[in-house]
Amino acid sequence: MIKKILVFIFGLLLSFKYFPLRFIELFGQLFPENSYGCMIRGFLYRPFLKQCGSNFQVGLQVKLEHLNNINIGNDVYIGHGSWISGLRGGVTLEDQVLIGPYVRIISSNHTFKDGSARFAPGVGEAIIVGFGSWIASGVTITSGVKIGKSCLLAASSVITKNIEEDSIVVGIPGRIIGKVSEKYCK
Ligand SMILES: CC(C)(COP(=O)(O)OP(=O)(O)OC[C@H]1O[C@@H](n2cnc3c(N)ncnc32)[C@H](O)[C@@H]1OP(=O)(O)O)[C@@H](O)C(=O)NCCC(=O)NCCS
Repeated sequence: MIKKILVFIFGLLLSFKYFPLRFIELFGQLFPENSYGCMIRGFLYRPFLKQCGSNFQVGLQVKLEHLNNINIGNDVYIGHGSWISGLRGGVTLEDQVLIGPYVRIISSNHTFKDGSARFAPGVGEAIIVGFGSWIASGVTITSGVKIGKSCLLAASSVITKNIEEDSIVVGIPGRIIGKVSEKYCK
């Protein structure tokens, strides 16, 4: 019983460390889903990030986790409802990366111990999204993946392998179907 109480008190004290971040997350939700609101949320996150360029914009209900492992370039936009976790590997979004709504970028994985993932140690590898890439709504990018510059990852695709620059990628698992420069740059 005493052990349980001590663990509870320890957990409570540890939680205080996260109050400033929780506060700005909640406070940020008061601002609208327009460029001013997105700019304000980006500004609020700035002190908690490993690195943050200018004009960072964040939609409503975005969840950024392990911010001290997330690098943000200039003019990066993250659409509403996205979840980006820099746990273990870390995440880098280079300049002008455009992340649509409900995107998931997670730089860690569970392992298994004695047949169970629950208490096994985690592993992770860095994720990098290159300059100017457009990550459309609902995309998932898994640990260790490098996306080259100027790529388009189509809605709901799941990206588990490196993608060379200028690629259009669709599906699960993501497959390259063309070049952005040929289809979209007139
Ligand atoms: C990637 C995208 C822009 C392609 O649009 P498009 O130029 O009209 O593409 P096309 O219709 O020429 O599709 C080319 C091929 O890719 C396939 N394809 C396109 N998008 C796909 C997707 N999201 N998932 C799976 N396949 C897809 C098409 O079925 C087609 O296959 P086919 O050649 O076998 O017929 C569009 O599908 C998309 O994902 N838009 C993002 C929408 C979004 O999330 N907006 C939120 C704002 S960030």
